[in-house]
Amino acid sequence: MQSVGTISALRAQIKAWRDHKQTIAFVPTMGNLHQGHLSLVRKASELADRVVVSIFVNPLQFDDKVDLSAYPRTVKADIQMLSTVDCDVIFTPTLDVMYPKGMAPHTNVIVPNMDDKLCGLKRPGHFDGVATVVIKLLNIAQADIALFGEKDYQQLLLIKRLVHDLNLPVDVLGAPTFREESGLAMSSRNQYLTEQQQVQAAGLYQTLLSVKQRIEMGGQNFPALQLEAFTKLQGLGFEAEYVDIRRADDLAQAISGDKNLRILAAGRLGKARLIDNIACNLA
Ligand code: PAF
Repeated sequence: MQSVGTISALRAQIKAWRDHKQTIAFVPTMGNLHQGHLSLVRKASELADRVVVSIFVNPLQFDDKVDLSAYPRTVKADIQMLSTVDCDVIFTPTLDVMYPKGMAPHTNVIVPNMDDKLCGLKRPGHFDGVATVVIKLLNIAQADIALFGEKDYQQLLLIKRLVHDLNLPVDVLGAPTFREESGLAMSSRNQYLTEQQQVQAAGLYQTLLSVKQRIEMGGQNFPALQLEAFTKLQGLGFEAEYVDIRRADDLAQAISGDKNLRILAAGRLGKARLIDNIACNLA
């Protein structure tokens, strides 16, 4: 496993692999890796000959500057973790490599109808920052496949749309959310939780499961189910942001009769903002 910091070094390696007809999978991350990230890398190595993982904390996607400065930078530990799986190259660009002229004058990519709902409402500019850095990373890595976790479901759909709209020659794949035994979705932000809050946090997933169960039992009054679940989250100690039942393919508001659903929720618990979602497919 080698670590490269420049675009030219990464591209030279990609070209060498391509010259040998090898396929490439790419896993973009912001570091502070956990088992969820490693599961993406494992899946990547099953699907392609070579795997590239990027680690770059992208300031452009942080709507909250305190969140940006608090975001854990753990590159040494990340490299150690990646050495336990089949990762060929770690791309660790600096801010200057990604935004040589600074961020303010940089081209900004906007994905309409995706950035203005759910997390987009609470985090203005966040998804523009994600779209901008992801398109740069995809262009830099020139991989055949790129993998993203389903925990960030809205992000995943936004990236799929971006790649489709801009005709990028890469397959974007989602991978299932990796969970703690309690059901809590793995996230870098879980480390902001106290022990007590970690127990409470598992209630987010349980709340989603109970909404799913109600729908599977025939519940079709989605606004009422959402409100009930929202109130439940508040009762669990969350500063709830939303619990929403959406169409899985475009995140439009679901209506009675829709079959392919996604139930999504977000809320703050202490210092952590947690998000989670599950599929709900009706026959
Ligand atoms: O999900 C993340 O870790 C980030 O949003 C991503 C996709 C690496 C872009 O910075």
